[in-house]
Amino acid sequence: MAKEKIILTGDRPTGRLHIGHYVGSLRRRVELQNSGLYDKTFIFIADAQALTDNMDNPEKVRQNVIEVALDYLACGLDPTKSTIFIQSQIPELCELSFYYMDLVTVSRLQRNPTVKTEIQMRNFETSIPVGFFTYPISQAADITAFKATTVPVGEDQEPMIEQAREIVRRFNHIYGETLVEPEILLPDNAACLRLPGTDGKAKMSKSLGNCIYLSDSADEVTKKIKSMYTDPNHIRVEDPGQIEGNTVFTYLDAFCRPEHFERYWNDYANLAELKAHYQRGGLGDMKVKKFLTAIMQEELEPIRTRRKEFEQDIPAIYDMLKKGCEVAREQAAQTLDEVRRAMKINYFDDAELIAEQARKFKAE
Ligand code: TRP
Repeated sequence: MAKEKIILTGDRPTGRLHIGHYVGSLRRRVELQNSGLYDKTFIFIADAQALTDNMDNPEKVRQNVIEVALDYLACGLDPTKSTIFIQSQIPELCELSFYYMDLVTVSRLQRNPTVKTEIQMRNFETSIPVGFFTYPISQAADITAFKATTVPVGEDQEPMIEQAREIVRRFNHIYGETLVEPEILLPDNAACLRLPGTDGKAKMSKSLGNCIYLSDSADEVTKKIKSMYTDPNHIRVEDPGQIEGNTVFTYLDAFCRPEHFERYWNDYANLAELKAHYQRGGLGDMKVKKFLTAIMQEELEPIRTRRKEFEQDIPAIYDMLKKGCEVAREQAAQTLDEVRRAMKINYFDDAELIAEQARKFKAE
């Protein structure tokens, strides 16, 4: 049988999901799920990973599990097509991590660019929790437990996937071909790789208050776009404007399609024409923001509406997650069996081992 094509990805439940998550990965996942090109899709809520740097705030993680699940369903992830589950409910992942720890050196973890910046950012230098330090290893367990071939994530996750690939290669080299090396799937549109915050800062983050959430009301979205960062030197309408580093245009790059011009602004045929006019001068920010608002509302409205519907039956969502966990566990347990066999720690189901040793000791 040809190797199965399996998608796996997840999110930390530390807040509601925003449009950075959406263009960076969520939108793509739904397309992949519906494409029929993959044999299985696993999407999970990485609560155990969220606890590695929120260990003192379990209530936050607990409350955000359902928020993320609602965002998933609202975007169109469909539990009849994808297995949606919660990381902490799959104990097999811990066991895999435990074995993978033998395959990774401390200095390799220290060189992981994501871990490195996180350590600096949080002043963790002397007080980094071991669980946080080693989360790239547990992430490799998340990926390999499901034999994922394809991991759709944002650019920031690249070092994690690379680390997982190394672990797979090392494992297979030492213990024999067992694990599947995953490939990262990045957004193909540069604007989607890392959508800036509404204030123009490089990263959308809750603490900076510069996010547009999938669950924001229409009014909130309009308000946030109205106050969005543009070109600070574009003061009068006649002035030439800059589109590089201009958040409104970055968002248009991520969201705008030619048909939007037909629907909302037929003065232009496409984004290139609009950009050219802005750069020439004579086009005010407010007009462009209005256009962006129309596009974003069109994209977000159905998500908002579906979310409201799902919010009406929370117990059903926990039920769906529980079923997802059961399916996921079965898959992870199967991989763990293979890992144990490869690592020669499957004593009780290896009749040959017992027979051979019995002979050996008799002969002595
Ligand atoms: N680290 C990811 C994030 O912060 C979440 C995550 C955990 C993940 N395990 C994963 C993503 C495995 C992809 C595959 O968003």
